[in-house]
Amino acid sequence: MRDPQEPSGGIHPLLAGRFSPHRFDPSAVVDDRALGLLLEAARWAPSAGNSQPWGFFMARPGEPEHDRLLPHLAPSSARWAVDAGLLVVTLTRRHFDDTPLLYSEFADYDLGQAVAHMAVQAQALGLATHQFRAFDLEGLTKELGPNPGWVIVSMVAVGGAAEGPPEGRHRRTAAHLRSAPWSPAE
Ligand SMILES: Cc1cc2nc3c(=O)[nH]c(=O)nc-3n(C[C@H](O)[C@H](O)[C@H](O)COP(=O)(O)O)c2cc1C
Repeated sequence: MRDPQEPSGGIHPLLAGRFSPHRFDPSAVVDDRALGLLLEAARWAPSAGNSQPWGFFMARPGEPEHDRLLPHLAPSSARWAVDAGLLVVTLTRRHFDDTPLLYSEFADYDLGQAVAHMAVQAQALGLATHQFRAFDLEGLTKELGPNPGWVIVSMVAVGGAAEGPPEGRHRRTAAHLRSAPWSPAE
């Protein structure tokens, strides 16, 4: 019988092959073409009312922008993110016109889809991605100073994986996805 902890053979290899490495190859570069395609993939994500509430700060090792990001990594992510060929800070526009009253209910949802597009495009380019929240949000927000209404949500390390998928990855079963919202508390 199929191991429920292995991706089903039926899903697309780009999805089945994706994992978040904890080691990147520092010699694997993300060139301008790849960087452009990652943005292009994000651009074509769906969003509520076609609001496209996403934005990205991108930096590669050797670029001055990269030095602005490194001090804000948490010790846990710094261990592997520094070796990635590209660091992406993801932002969403949660509030309009600098007022907390006008709020886009779907801004984070839409950003997540754009990042998922980016992750699959990276995979198609032979690049791995590791999304993470292990950074100093307040410090990074001060550093990058996004416009009012915009908030930093996550970061993504993109590059050549220097390891394969880990043993013992865990996923809930497909059946669980359909029953969990109605099941008694676990
Ligand atoms: C929003 C978000 C935040 C995450 N934060 C971290 C993090 O701070 N540190 C980390 O090592 N991984 C982080 N991850 C990666 C997840 O741990 C990882 O995707 C999950 O364990 C499943 O593993 P896989 O991506 O290899 O399938 C994050 C992922 C997402 C989507």
